[in-house]
Amino acid sequence: MRDILPAEQKYFMYLRKAFETAAEQSGFNRIYTPTVEPATLFERTVGKSTDIVEKEMYAFKSKSGKKVALRPEGTASVARAYLENGMTSWPQPVKLYYEMPMFRYDRPQAGRYREHWQFGVEAFGEKSPLLDVTVIALALRAIKTAGLSETSLQINSIGCPNCRPKYKRILTRFLKENEKELCADCKRRIKTNPLRTLDCKEKKCQEVTEGAPQMVNNLCNTCHEHFKVILEYLDALDIVYEINPRLVRGLDYYIQTVFEIWNERDGGQSALGGGGRYDGLTELLGARKVPGIGFGLGADRIVAAMMAEKVEIPEGTGLDVFVVQLGKEAKKKCFKLMFDLQNAGVGAEGSIDKGSMSAQLKMANRLKVPYAIIIGQKEAYSDTVILKDMDSGCQEIYPQDKIVRELEKRISKLQR
Ligand code: HAM
Repeated sequence: MRDILPAEQKYFMYLRKAFETAAEQSGFNRIYTPTVEPATLFERTVGKSTDIVEKEMYAFKSKSGKKVALRPEGTASVARAYLENGMTSWPQPVKLYYEMPMFRYDRPQAGRYREHWQFGVEAFGEKSPLLDVTVIALALRAIKTAGLSETSLQINSIGCPNCRPKYKRILTRFLKENEKELCADCKRRIKTNPLRTLDCKEKKCQEVTEGAPQMVNNLCNTCHEHFKVILEYLDALDIVYEINPRLVRGLDYYIQTVFEIWNERDGGQSALGGGGRYDGLTELLGARKVPGIGFGLGADRIVAAMMAEKVEIPEGTGLDVFVVQLGKEAKKKCFKLMFDLQNAGVGAEGSIDKGSMSAQLKMANRLKVPYAIIIGQKEAYSDTVILKDMDSGCQEIYPQDKIVRELEKRISKLQR
């Protein structure tokens, strides 16, 4: 697990704000769930034979002997919270979003961390394909703010409990006929999870499955219609997508729609985010069936891609003004003024140590503040301040007791 230092933090925070704004503007409300949950929650939903549960879950016994796990993904936890907190009786759909760390024990490598952050949403209680479109469009809007040059939306339908078993049989027959050509993992998957052979990274397996029967050609009428409407609406919104018959996703709870957003710069090697529909998930948790759909964006990967592409993000330190002081009397006044400004919600910083006027103004420049306040000896005695606009260099004199109000006004204008 790794530290995320200030250089990366500014990308994280930028992305987080953009994601929060996009989610809130689409009517999603924030939720956080506990980091530790009973391991069975993920075994029952994500699936016992998935990589996430079988190989990567940090599961251990708590002091009471109960098997618990560090949350490997958010959907199961949010679904549990939805059921446990009576949200089934809220007006549906219930739309929730989160920024939470996830834990997966994998060999650490670029884009794969043992602790990673996901910005995700989950929407419960609505079966309409238009909710799928809403959720996909939101994921794309959030990714767009990252300013990456080449991303793509990959989409597929993996059917439902009505049509998938039949497709599994057709696919299994095909795989058995070609078993000799498959890697050891895929040979095992023929029995455990034949769909996963479709997204195997081994070249020889990909060559075999190139000619495999496709789920989209074997959907039942309901799934076919659902997928068709989604594609029609994506077209209507001018959202470009690629139907990817290999996209099956590595979590068992999905039905029908699955999608991922890829960074084409690395050939889609590591998805920036992924999601899908999971109408059977609440049943896996012992409750009645509630439809649902969501996604998780991998913040660490998006940030890494932004840094690799040297994406420039709007600079902003949260500071609005730098207070410059010259002389003993001015120092005391400046110190008080700095706190008065902060208490009024104006981001203020100043040099507590001595320093020449030019050294202090240099600091102000480095912090990219829009304003500086200067109090020298003359101003200290006359209860005035000099307000300097750092962009234009213009200076104005204000009475000391009016400056906080004046800056409040100017900052609120800047924010608008
Ligand atoms: P997931 O595809 O396992 O889906 O993860 C979502 C995203 O998290 C991935 O696309 C990737 O960007 C990032 N990610 C996953 N594992 C790692 C890792 N080890 N290191 C860095 N980033 C990683 C889910 O977890 C589902 N719960 C998403 C979802 C929400 N589906 C419906 N609702």
